[in-house]
Amino acid sequence: MENKVKPNGTATFTVAGKTAELPVYSGTHGPDVVDIASLNKQTGHFTLDPGFTSTASCESQITFIDGGKGTLLHRGYPIDQLAEQSDFLEVCYLLLNGELPSQTELADYKHTITHHTMIHTQFDRFFEGFRRDAHPMAIMTGAVGALSAFYHDSLDINDPQHRIISANRLIAKMPTIAARAHKYSIGQPFISPRNDLGYAANFLRMCFAVPAEDYEVQDVMARAMDRIFILHADHEQNASTSTVRLAGSSGANPFACIAAGIACLWGPSHGGANEAALTMLQEIGSVERIPEYIAKAKDKDDPFRLMGFGHRVYKNYDPRAKVMQKTCHEVLDAVGASNDPLLPIAIELEKIALEDEYFVKRNLYPNIDFYSGITLKAMGFPTEMFTVLFALARTVGWVAQWQEMIEDPTQRIGRPRQIYTGAANRDYVPVSKR
Ligand code: CMC
Repeated sequence: MENKVKPNGTATFTVAGKTAELPVYSGTHGPDVVDIASLNKQTGHFTLDPGFTSTASCESQITFIDGGKGTLLHRGYPIDQLAEQSDFLEVCYLLLNGELPSQTELADYKHTITHHTMIHTQFDRFFEGFRRDAHPMAIMTGAVGALSAFYHDSLDINDPQHRIISANRLIAKMPTIAARAHKYSIGQPFISPRNDLGYAANFLRMCFAVPAEDYEVQDVMARAMDRIFILHADHEQNASTSTVRLAGSSGANPFACIAAGIACLWGPSHGGANEAALTMLQEIGSVERIPEYIAKAKDKDDPFRLMGFGHRVYKNYDPRAKVMQKTCHEVLDAVGASNDPLLPIAIELEKIALEDEYFVKRNLYPNIDFYSGITLKAMGFPTEMFTVLFALARTVGWVAQWQEMIEDPTQRIGRPRQIYTGAANRDYVPVSKR
């Protein structure tokens, strides 16, 4: 990657009588950044920012979010345009290569991905090592990490061709692995991919067909699945992506790095929120009980939070949530579940929260996970699979960000510092004297 940050003056920082001159850079969009890399050298001080709320960890040309305006761009293209007019594999190509493909490039890319969806039969035996009741995210973490035990031929991270082969393998095989994680947990035989189906349709069929009866993929379902994949494809330097970059900064192979990303995504504050949002709607159970839960969410002595609300970066309506809400209605209509009792609860909860002073003051809006749980449930997925679908879709973002990091000439191993507040230096006391 060719670095593109532009110098935009300097900032002066004075601490304990020492002054540092720090470069300021401008990107294409977003706030300018102060480059503090030389601060320690100039003043002997570190900075402290535990949740990275004021810290950019890298330069990136992939995704831009304006949390105040509620904007999300991939390589400059707004997410709603991509969700309405593109398809997931085209978005994958865009994220990985920086530009939309020509017709030939797109056809070639789709052919490559389609023809690498099968996994080695020996690999299938890994699944049998898991308990039947294992969470599919546990299976995903293990199985994706195990890909590095299979594909020794593409593990040289310094070889651009190896990086492309690994990227293609991950994107092509992730739906097959995810569908197997699902089939394994419900005790059904694995269904092989079929090359005459598109990426999303193929995944749905691998999840829902059984040897005794094929699964006819409805267009509306394939389109909804594809759109859900697009909406989750990348989200700049979030927790799991930063995990992938940090793991990759040591030179670890891409399969190991993506497995680390999957583990991070599993948490309820990140990818696990769609499962948590649906569970919360089920627990609320009726529109009448919403005020009780709103009060719980506002009570500082109660750990309860409205799941599917709030975001570290968006302080406006999550642009993905708007598309997700529309997709949710389309799917519910198609499966005849528009009378799902959870939908009126979700709509009323959203309305009340958007008018409530507590949520308004803190800019807490629905995020993508608020409507994705209801949608995925209507499509037939059990709640344990929700985060797996997120991981499947986010794989391309992780890979694109990992590739960008490896190609960045300024890349070094990630190594944060700390402020130490433990015991001061003291002498060891032999056990006989304690
Ligand atoms: N319900 C009630 N209060 C909330 C919520 C919520 N969902 N989210 C934030 N707050 C309050 C929080 O208590 C704090 O109040 P105060 O200023 O009085 O102390 C204020 O809003 C700021 O919250 P924060 O915890 O400092 O914000 P954060 O940026 O650290 O956390 C978050 C962001 C997404 C973890 C958080 O909003 C949350 O836990 N939301 C619910 C879980 C969820 O839906 N996560 C999905 C995120 S989107 C998908 C993804 O990126 O993975």
